[in-house]
Amino acid sequence: MKILVIGSGGREHALYWKLKQSPKVTSIVCAPGNGGTDNNVDIAADDIQGLLNYALKHKIDLTVVGPEDPLCLGIIDTFQEHGLVIFGPNKHAAQLEGSKDFSKSFMVRHNIPTAEYHTYTDHRDALNAIASMKFPLVIKADGLCKGKGVIICETHKEAKDTLHEIYVNKQFGEEGNKVVLETFLDGYETSLLCFVSNNRIFPMETARDYKKIGEGDKGENTGGVGCYSPAPAFNNKVKANIDKILANIEVGLYHDDFDFNGILYVGLMIVGDTPYVLEFNTRFGDPETEVLLPRLQSDLVEIMMHVENDTLQQSHLQWDPRTCLTTIVVSKGYPGTYEKNIPMILNDDGLVFHNGTKRTETELLSVGGRVLSFVEMGDDLITLNAKLNERIEKLEFKNKVYRRDIGLI
Ligand code: AMP
Ligand code: GLY
Repeated sequence: MKILVIGSGGREHALYWKLKQSPKVTSIVCAPGNGGTDNNVDIAADDIQGLLNYALKHKIDLTVVGPEDPLCLGIIDTFQEHGLVIFGPNKHAAQLEGSKDFSKSFMVRHNIPTAEYHTYTDHRDALNAIASMKFPLVIKADGLCKGKGVIICETHKEAKDTLHEIYVNKQFGEEGNKVVLETFLDGYETSLLCFVSNNRIFPMETARDYKKIGEGDKGENTGGVGCYSPAPAFNNKVKANIDKILANIEVGLYHDDFDFNGILYVGLMIVGDTPYVLEFNTRFGDPETEVLLPRLQSDLVEIMMHVENDTLQQSHLQWDPRTCLTTIVVSKGYPGTYEKNIPMILNDDGLVFHNGTKRTETELLSVGGRVLSFVEMGDDLITLNAKLNERIEKLEFKNKVYRRDIGLI
């Protein structure tokens, strides 16, 4: 089979690496790819027409979409209209990630516990609402907002300033015109990624990511700078509640005629014994993918074809019982501004997924905030953490920043 992977991050490198191991694969390319994927085509992930032309011309048998933007633009619908096989949800289903209002109303309609919320389209109405709300308060701009649309406000003034940024300064353009105001939930977060085949849900193993840039879980939020799988085990009550949530999601997908195929990423906040759904994503998580796929023993091409043919069963997902840990090297300054095109020398024989690199004839350069995910598999987090720190120390990269406590706290 000829495979096309769309995207350019660590998630896509991990997908590329895993798919390439399938005996079914005769060739694999990544568009646009990065310095870790060795067969790249220079087409942007949101250039739907360019990707379609490529897939038709090269008779691609399976296209796998990494990021959310092409899904929300309707790449699945377009490819399918041309008779191509492509893994991911259609444009309608992708709204579960693309619109916070859409996903929250889905949750409420189908009895899926989530933070209480109201949606506003008018600045004045939102201002009136915050006057009587409790803090901290969560403000979510409705669209994709490049992953930056969630703002946790500690005070009334912060909330007022945030609304000003959104409505007056148009921080998120027109996307931000609709805002969701929701109650802050205080608990611990877990990501549960699921394969979905014709609205049926098949959970993967759990993963826990580290969102804060600083050691001790301090500082700004990032896309994720470390991760491990499995996450600490849930007690039976939490487990039963999560099963109920997944069952309700399944019923909801059927009831609302979603025709959902692909990945549903359920972002959970566990408060006491009660899990709440914070958000849905409709694609693999990054960095969750970098620790889940090394643990997946089954053939990923086979799984994706089962999804396509509506023949997937839970027993098709076999997992290595060991723990997988990743620590991500980022560029100094991330998640704020950082330098690009900085050369590095990677002195390493272990598993490394590239998040933000590019190769020239002679050099490997950093081009992203997140740069390299170092990965280790084994039995205990303390040993894995030590091994990763030792490996990362040998990386020659002048703007190298990483947390030495990933997996330990
Ligand atoms: P989201 O894009 O919805 O996942 O939000 C990004 C991050 O904001 C989440 O991973 C949480 O850490 C945090 N967050 C979102 N909603 C809430 C909430 N209602 N209460 C507390 N934290 C939240
Ligand atoms: N790890 C968070 C995300 O992929 O959105």
